[in-house]
Amino acid sequence: MKLDYAESLRKFSETFNLSKEETSKGNDQIPGGFSRRTFAYGPHAIFAERGEGQYVYTIEGKKLLDLNNNFSTNVTGHNHPEILKAIQEVLKKGFSFGNPVNYELELAQLLCQRIDSIEKVKFFCSASEACLSAIRIARGYTGKNKIAKFEGGYHGFCDDLAISAHPTPASFPGPDFHPKPLPDSAGIPTYKSDNVIVLVQNDYQACESILRNHADDVACVIMELQSGAGGVVELDKEFVARIRKLTQELGILLIIDETMTLRAAKGGLQSIYQVHPDLTVMGKMIGGGLPIGAVGGRREIFRVLEENQVLISGTHHGHPLSCAAGSACLRVMNDEAYEHLNRMAKRIKDELNHWAKASNYPFIVYGAFSMLGYAFTKEIGQEIKTHRDYWHKIDEDSMNTYALEMATQGYFPVHRGQIGLTLPMTDEDISGYIETTKAIIQKMHE
Ligand SMILES: Cc1ncc(COP(=O)(O)O)c(C=O)c1O
Repeated sequence: MKLDYAESLRKFSETFNLSKEETSKGNDQIPGGFSRRTFAYGPHAIFAERGEGQYVYTIEGKKLLDLNNNFSTNVTGHNHPEILKAIQEVLKKGFSFGNPVNYELELAQLLCQRIDSIEKVKFFCSASEACLSAIRIARGYTGKNKIAKFEGGYHGFCDDLAISAHPTPASFPGPDFHPKPLPDSAGIPTYKSDNVIVLVQNDYQACESILRNHADDVACVIMELQSGAGGVVELDKEFVARIRKLTQELGILLIIDETMTLRAAKGGLQSIYQVHPDLTVMGKMIGGGLPIGAVGGRREIFRVLEENQVLISGTHHGHPLSCAAGSACLRVMNDEAYEHLNRMAKRIKDELNHWAKASNYPFIVYGAFSMLGYAFTKEIGQEIKTHRDYWHKIDEDSMNTYALEMATQGYFPVHRGQIGLTLPMTDEDISGYIETTKAIIQKMHE
């Protein structure tokens, strides 16, 4: 029998029956049943009981290979012994101080050593806060008001940046070469959109024309080199190099948001692109699994903080637990670790793309490193180059069917079309993932 959405949904709810119950129980006290809404998975979330290495164990007692790993955060897998040890060391000494504690300095030093464009770093509690702070710093430094971001680029949930990350064709988003800024949520004041200029991924001509028109009032361009939450789109290297040059010419700061992409290489994805942004936003893996966000960048720009022109302060900024866990995670992430992750990612990409092409299936895997994108397209051979390609080319029904079926068969994927790998994964895990994907796609096309 051909596998379709209705059948995959039925199997999913049967397999994760306790999670279904927990979701509806939670709904009495928590809107939607749980706080992390991005984990709503088809009809409900999958509740985790514990994590160990590359696996997450659900409350039903099912073991899943964790290809989500908290949207790329747990790059070393669950419960890594070195990270656990670092957290336990801090706990012995007390874990909430207003006073500076040196764990922050160690993490700052590691980031400055690894990432060429970073000379100084300031820490926050989340990457949303870090993005908000980066644009405040850029505005303070340049004396300009507006910010430019890409359609489909996600930089956290805060009002200033939750604009045009997930626009839809129904929201009157403007022409392809000049998108309109649109709030991603009700409750964002309309004047927030007025301060945002929206750019087009991989279309240099469109970006140049928009930026030249607004150069006098644009403080910064904020970008992901490979977007994630707004849909996986890999930027072309040449495109990024030209944007860097243009922003320098126009006196606009370039902020690269490496919240997810830092797992590409020791120096982040920017080191592979050989691009030097003015500021870099970081988060997720640099907290080793605990809450964190950071902005790093050129020494000279941080003068606006040192001279108290730009003010940013938070109760838990530079929290010792997150900083100690983050340093431990970075120490584990040595050259061999990156090599192992990227080799597994390349294998998935090469083998599945070769197979899909040879078998004439409209399925592709793309992306540059251990956070890959996958897509079921409407036609064979289609590529995803801009956010709007999602509107025109993606077969939503197949995306959802595949994601639910993967979970039922023991693989926790990211339903929006992302796969994140972790350090404890083995070649056997990757073979299992590849063969299961092939079997599901074949069943979907019977
Ligand atoms: C690129 C990017 N920037 C910022 C954020 C916001 O991070 P946080 O959830 O830590 O606020 C995310 C979260 O997914 C992200 O992917």
